[in-house]
Formats: sequence, C-alpha cells, structure tokens
Amino acid sequence: MLSGQPIIILKDSVERTRGQEAQRSNIAAAKAIAAAVRTTLGPRGMDKMLVSSTGDVVITNDGATILHEMAVQHPGAKMVIEVAETQDDEVGDGTTTACILVGTLMEQAEQLLAKMVHPTVIANGYTMGMNRALEIVEENSIRVDPADRETLIRLADTSMTGKSIEQVKEKLNGIVVDAVMTVAEKKNGEIVVDRDDIMIKKQKGDSIDDAALIRGCVIDKKRASDAMPKKIANAKVALVAQPLEITKTQVKAKIRINTADQLSAFGTQEREALRQLADRVVASGANVLLCQKGISDPVQYYLAKAGVMAIQDVNEKDMKYAARALSAKIVNKVSDLTPDDLGNAALVQEADDAELVTFSGCDNPKAITVLLRGSTDYLLDELERAVVDGTSVVADAMEDGTYVVGGGAVEVELSLRLREYAASVGGRVQLAIDAFAEAFEAIPLTLAENSGFNPLDKLVDLRTAHAKGGRYMGLNVFSGEVVDMLDAGVIEPARVKRQAIQSAAETAILLIRVDDMMITQSKPPAAPKA
Ligand SMILES: Nc1ncnc2c1ncn2[C@@H]1O[C@H](COP(=O)(O)OP(=O)(O)OP(=O)(O)O)[C@@H](O)[C@H]1O
Ligand SMILES: [Mg+2]
Repeated sequence: MLSGQPIIILKDSVERTRGQEAQRSNIAAAKAIAAAVRTTLGPRGMDKMLVSSTGDVVITNDGATILHEMAVQHPGAKMVIEVAETQDDEVGDGTTTACILVGTLMEQAEQLLAKMVHPTVIANGYTMGMNRALEIVEENSIRVDPADRETLIRLADTSMTGKSIEQVKEKLNGIVVDAVMTVAEKKNGEIVVDRDDIMIKKQKGDSIDDAALIRGCVIDKKRASDAMPKKIANAKVALVAQPLEITKTQVKAKIRINTADQLSAFGTQEREALRQLADRVVASGANVLLCQKGISDPVQYYLAKAGVMAIQDVNEKDMKYAARALSAKIVNKVSDLTPDDLGNAALVQEADDAELVTFSGCDNPKAITVLLRGSTDYLLDELERAVVDGTSVVADAMEDGTYVVGGGAVEVELSLRLREYAASVGGRVQLAIDAFAEAFEAIPLTLAENSGFNPLDKLVDLRTAHAKGGRYMGLNVFSGEVVDMLDAGVIEPARVKRQAIQSAAETAILLIRVDDMMITQSKPPAAPKA
C-alpha cells in the first residue's frame, strides 16, 4: 500500500522547473538576450560598454563579443549565446542577426503556445520553414568571381560599417581584401582561405590612418640590444624556445660555493656556458634570432659582437607565425639548432619610429600581416574585431562564390516566400511556418528602429516593394528610402545568412521542445563549526 508520502527522487540541490513555466523561462531568456544586442544591429546601431569584474573595459558593437563578456547564468540564455559563438567561429559575422532571430522565433512560439498549438507542431513547422528558407537563400544568391576585387570590397565594407572605424574604412576595406586574396589558394579546384595565414598586429600611439598591409611577418618588439644591427639583408633566422640564460637554480644545483676561489671559478664557468649558447646560434649560420624567452646580457653581448640581430621574449603565437612565414623550425634547445632549422627573409628591419621589426621577402609568400594603429587600446581592439569580421566575410564569399543583398532585403524576401510556402502546406503546421516567416521581419524592423525611422512604415514599404517583384529592395538606413541594395552595394556572403538561419532555427526548435528543467546547484560551502 502506498502511504501517501511523496517519493523524493531528486537531491535537495536540484532546482526543478516544469511544463509551461519551463517554456516561459526559456522564451524569456532568449528574448532577453536578443533585446540585449538588438540596438547594435546595422550601420547606425549603437555600441555597448562592458566592464568585467577585474575592471577591464570593452567598448564594442560586435554581438559575439558583447555576449561573450556578459556573465549569463540561465541555461536557455547560454544556448542562445552559443548560437552567436558558433556564428562567429563558422562565418565570422552575423552574430547579432542570429541572436535576434532566435529571440524572435521564441517570441513567435510563445504566441503559438498561447493559441494551444502543440510544441511538436511548432518544432515541425520551424524545421520545414528552415529547410525552405535555406533554399530561398540559395535562389536569391548572386555569384561572385574570386578575382572580382570591386565586389569583395563591397562585401568587406558592409561587414565593417558601424564599427567606430568610419574614418579608415575605405583603407581597411582594401587592406582586408588584398590580404585575403593573397593567402587564398586553389585546392582541388576549390578556393580555400586559411584564416591563420593573416596575422593582425596592433600598435598603440599612432594615427588610425597609418594602418598598413605588410607582406611578410611583423614582430612588435625592438631588438634586444642597441649594439645589434638594425637591418639585415638575406636573413637566416633561428627560432629558439629556450631562454638563453643560466637560471640561478640550475647553477646552484651543480656547484656548491665554499671558498672565494670557487666563486670566481663559477663566474668564468657561467660566462663560458653563456658564450657557448651564443656560439651555437652563430655556428648554425643564423644572423637573426627570435627567442621565446629572455636572453641574458652576456649572450646579447656575444651575439651583437658576431653581428646577429636578436629579439627576446617573443610570444608563442608570434613564434609560430614566424615559423610559418619563414619556413623555419622552432627548436627547444639551442644545442639542437642546425642550418636546416633556419628560415629565410630577404630583409629584416627594425622601424625607426615604433617597436616593430618587419621580416619581408619571406620564404612563404602567403605570409601577410595587417598592422593596425590607434590612440587607445579600446579603439585598437574594436579595429581588430572589424578587421576579423571583414577578412572572414571576404574569405566566406571567395570560398563559396556567392552573396546575397543586405539592408533587410533578403529577410523581407524570405518572409514573403515563406508565407507563400506556408499557404501551400496547410493544416496546423501552416501556423508555425507563418510564424517562422514573420520572424525574419525582425531584421528590417530593427534596422529601421536603430536608424530612427518608424519600423512599421518601413516594413510596409519593403513588403510592397517585394510583392511587386523588387527582391533586392532594402532599407537605406541613412535616408530611410527603400532602394535597390544591389545597386547600393550593400551585400553579404550567402554563408553568413545560411548559418544564422540554421543555427537560430535549430536552437529555437531545441528550446521549444523542453518542458522540464532540472538544474543542479553547486553545494553551498559548509557552515563553519562552532
Ligand atoms: N549600408 C547599409 N545599409 C543598410 N543596411 C546595412 C548596411 N550595412 C549593413 N547593413 C545591414 O546591417 C546588418 C548587419 O549589422 P551588424 O554588422 O551590426 O550585425 P551582424 O552582422 O548581425 O552581427 P556582428 O557584426 O555584430 O557579428 C545586416 O542586416 C546588413 O545587411
Ligand atoms: Mg556584421
């Protein structure tokens, strides 16, 4: 006989939310995340200032960065943030768009649930809508030749607008496109761009206009000592990971000093060991040395005497990049260094006015560095994010060879065509596909709102233009007019839209089907004993 006692199967530390409350909670979370980033969408979007617990300040317009910096706890909200992160990793742009889409899809689902449409029907409708939407993007894609610099510049421009970099945008567009075009390779008839081939270096202090594309590799340090040469032609470069010094503990372990005689002997021994380190470098035939760790003064002295230019404390990322650029091998111990490990550069030169050593004419012609200059770290970081977005977008378009039109044009077209599709499907699922169609209108609505225009008026104008067959008609966010976005040159890689649609829809579908959340709380610290 059951005694009527409740049976407890979950630990005390598990917080459980069920049924409609679980659905409501996830919907609210997704909407909150979308609301947090929506004001940044488009060229007239605003920026956000984020301050971490350690006091670091970030000012940005980049959706992925904003969400990454936000300390979010709700599991549903975390899933939406993952959409932005995936978007950033896979295509490098469109993170704000993807988040707005998830938020709106969840908002639409909320209305359907209120009309008693079952979550599985919504999920089915969204899946059908997503598949059709991907086809519509395909149908509205335009082909781009990988050598078409003009079009690639327009793509870079669209992705970099509104990122506080207006004054150098034109220059950066060119830099970004030339960088990607240089590193692009044809493999089995397909274009591939290895994003890691493009190094971005930031230098504080100079004018933002001094941004430059350097064919080769750049290390943002000075040579270790002024006695070393500042410029070396036909450079043979050694890359060493080991510190070129004798650490105190190493010495202590070997020698116990008892008398004054021993002390001076130790001095000579140490000097000898240090000289050998320098000799090894010279013996390999190197005339330039990059060391990942420190180079002690005596070694610097011996290297300078032998005419070697050395840079110390080069970070690991730069060492790896230099190894690729120069076709050199990083050796762990200087005693292992052989002539085969060295890399080549036609010229290595330290800049007069900045902490910068440039390696040009490298073995690997695909080594490219984008050098950014700016007055503050905040500005430099935002410049870097813009350049990363720009290079990703150009690479996406070159690899796929397709783009779509922006300014809300492709979204309004998606919405129109999806409604037609919904009507052809019929049944209850039609309601869900209709809701899916409506979600896309959030993009032109938000663009209009962020630009200070009446969102509904603009949406009506856009719908009318598309119904008349103007599939490239979008919103000019500066004048408020509905214009042909292809003529205006506002274009984006098809891949950015495809990825946003797919990850937003898939996440919304997952969240809608959840009706039970069990969250295990981490144990509170035990109370101190009295
Ligand atoms: N000149 C322009 N006129 C109209 N719309 C534009 C223009 N430039 C860009 N857009 C539109 O702005 C939107 C992109 O805005 P934004 O770059 O702020 O967000 P995102 O790309 O979704 O996310 P993020 O760049 O933060 O990863 C796209 O819909 C794009 O078509
Ligand atoms: Mg963008």
